[in-house]
Amino acid sequence: MRAFGKLTACLALFASLLIVSASPAGADETVEPLPDDFLWGVASSGFQSEGDAPDSNWLRYTENGDKHEPYGNGVDFRHRYAEDIALAADMGVEVYRFGIEWARVEPAPGQWDEAELAYYDDVVQHILDAGMTPMITLNHWVHPGWVADQGGWKSADTLTDFTAYSERIVDRYSGLGVMWVTFNEPTLYVFHEIDNGSATWFDALALFDRLAAAHGNAYDLIHELDPGAMVTSNVAFIPATPWLFDAVFLDKIASKLDFVGVDYYYGLSLDNLTAIREVTGGQASAQPDGIYYALRYYHNKFPDKPLYIVENGMPTEDGAPREDGLTRSEHLSDHVYWLQRAVADGMNVIGYNYWSITDNYEWGSYTPRFGLYTVDAVNDPDLVRHPTDAVPTYTDLIESGGVPEDYEPVVPQSICSLIDPPLSCLVPA
Ligand code: BGC
Repeated sequence: MRAFGKLTACLALFASLLIVSASPAGADETVEPLPDDFLWGVASSGFQSEGDAPDSNWLRYTENGDKHEPYGNGVDFRHRYAEDIALAADMGVEVYRFGIEWARVEPAPGQWDEAELAYYDDVVQHILDAGMTPMITLNHWVHPGWVADQGGWKSADTLTDFTAYSERIVDRYSGLGVMWVTFNEPTLYVFHEIDNGSATWFDALALFDRLAAAHGNAYDLIHELDPGAMVTSNVAFIPATPWLFDAVFLDKIASKLDFVGVDYYYGLSLDNLTAIREVTGGQASAQPDGIYYALRYYHNKFPDKPLYIVENGMPTEDGAPREDGLTRSEHLSDHVYWLQRAVADGMNVIGYNYWSITDNYEWGSYTPRFGLYTVDAVNDPDLVRHPTDAVPTYTDLIESGGVPEDYEPVVPQSICSLIDPPLSCLVPA
């Protein structure tokens, strides 16, 4: 009976907290501009945009026609980088994130392709000449075909080979103010390797351990060769149980992380359970306030580390208006509003990258389009970059340091956010 009383009291407390948390008052607060040294960026990866792809795990996966659309030629960043970098600079962007393709620069073990290295030299030079900071990803889920042949990350040789590749790249671009990303979203890297048949679930923990060791080697090398550079491995933020995903990788490398790179795309709350649609191939409703709770989760976890949104963006289907009616411009402004709220509440958020500067190959399909500039990679042989409504918006946001103080988010604050439960529900922004 006494236990029953306690349970009732707990439920009553939970219900009252829920009612308080459901109050929309929090979304009406005015906001201040972000500080002048806040970094505004765009993000891209090698394989997804470059085209002209050399043999790699992912090129092979795309040749499995049952599962993936043909790769074609990406959006030909390999030859149009000057144009894309200029488009970013024209918006006032300060950080340009791109990926170096290991498969391109080392097409066979120990064989370095000088022409392809010179191409990346020129990419870096264009970014620097435009007054931007290069953010370089060493591995965005793609490794050379010869690495795949030796078993990918199941093989201890891959750790040695990746370290040698990292050393060559870091040495080449040291002293230029580069921000480094070792591995993009290791959890999804491993998931895709399993999903595409190169590993099994039984391999997963060993793969994470090897990736953590590889991150550690690259981190040490960067600090030795490029002193003062900032290093991360960006996490794919998964709502509800972020700690579970951290446990397999991030927690293992926490001492070798200069800033926490967070990729935030999909939220989850009592009034928005649509995130699950992303898994089943549908469109999740956007939940911009989730970026606030994701940042707060990492702020609480690593109070001394700066936080950086390394990716955030919104898919459309082939550029068509979304089911929820949200435009790219609205989606962007709403997320920046919640960044401003996060900074105002004491979170040390140092930067934000929009994913992506252009549409690209979304790991098996050109249909989901995330670009500030849209490109019809399938039907337009000229691969023309067309601005979306978010281009003038991003330009204004960068110029003004965010949304105006009286901005009202288009997407209402969620009711009981499940980004980091129970805290995100019980203590709303
Ligand atoms: C990846 C990108 C991808 C984006 C949008 C992230 O998980 O790093 O490569 O295109 O999400 O789905």
